[in-house]
Amino acid sequence: MGYNVAIDGPAGAGKSTIAKLVAKEKGYIYVDTGAMYRGMAIHFLDKGIRAKETDKIISALKDAEVTIRYEEGLQQVYLNGRNITDRLREEEVGKMASLTSAIPQVRQKLLELQKGLARTQDVIMDGRDIGTCVLPDADVKIYLTASVETRAKRRYDELTEKGIACDLDEIERDIKERDERDSTREIAPLKQAEDAVLVDSSHMTIDEVVAAIVKLCR
Ligand code: DC
Repeated sequence: MGYNVAIDGPAGAGKSTIAKLVAKEKGYIYVDTGAMYRGMAIHFLDKGIRAKETDKIISALKDAEVTIRYEEGLQQVYLNGRNITDRLREEEVGKMASLTSAIPQVRQKLLELQKGLARTQDVIMDGRDIGTCVLPDADVKIYLTASVETRAKRRYDELTEKGIACDLDEIERDIKERDERDSTREIAPLKQAEDAVLVDSSHMTIDEVVAAIVKLCR
């Protein structure tokens, strides 16, 4: 078994930024499970399936092969042999991932892949259910959160910096909607594991959050 660090938390809490930096400092492999759900979402979107069409989604799982490769230290996501990493962060993809990740068959398909990656390597894995379901025996568990306002503002700044026009209120609404959906679904909802350390990054810098997590690791 590798050394396993689990980071869960709501959308926009900075999980992937932080996890990547901790991975670099500690020499762990960073596994972004949200990217896997997003990869699946691209498969459904490309087939013209809507989130409500559960039967079609379940049937489309048969020909969806999401694989993760590490190229020059960066996670690349492949869907049926095609590198789709560039499309993962699109809003439409995030929304579809949140909606379809509530379907048990979708989660089951990705669970083994996630467990397998952690079995033999030292990983820091982020998502919604890592400490509670995927790696219940993780060596370190973090629940990383921040206020809705902070998360919305960070997302707004990120998009504005990229020259993408956006509306702060709309982003805040989307985040609240996503939080509600991810934490109230029946299977593997977002919640803090009993043995997870709570880190609220609302008033912390990136370096401070990284240092706090590194201190908890071996
Ligand atoms: O972390 P993210 O925004 O890339 O995740 C996209 C969606 O995927 C998220 O809204 C819910 C789902 N997800 C999940 O259900 N379980 C995980 N471990 C990771 C993501």
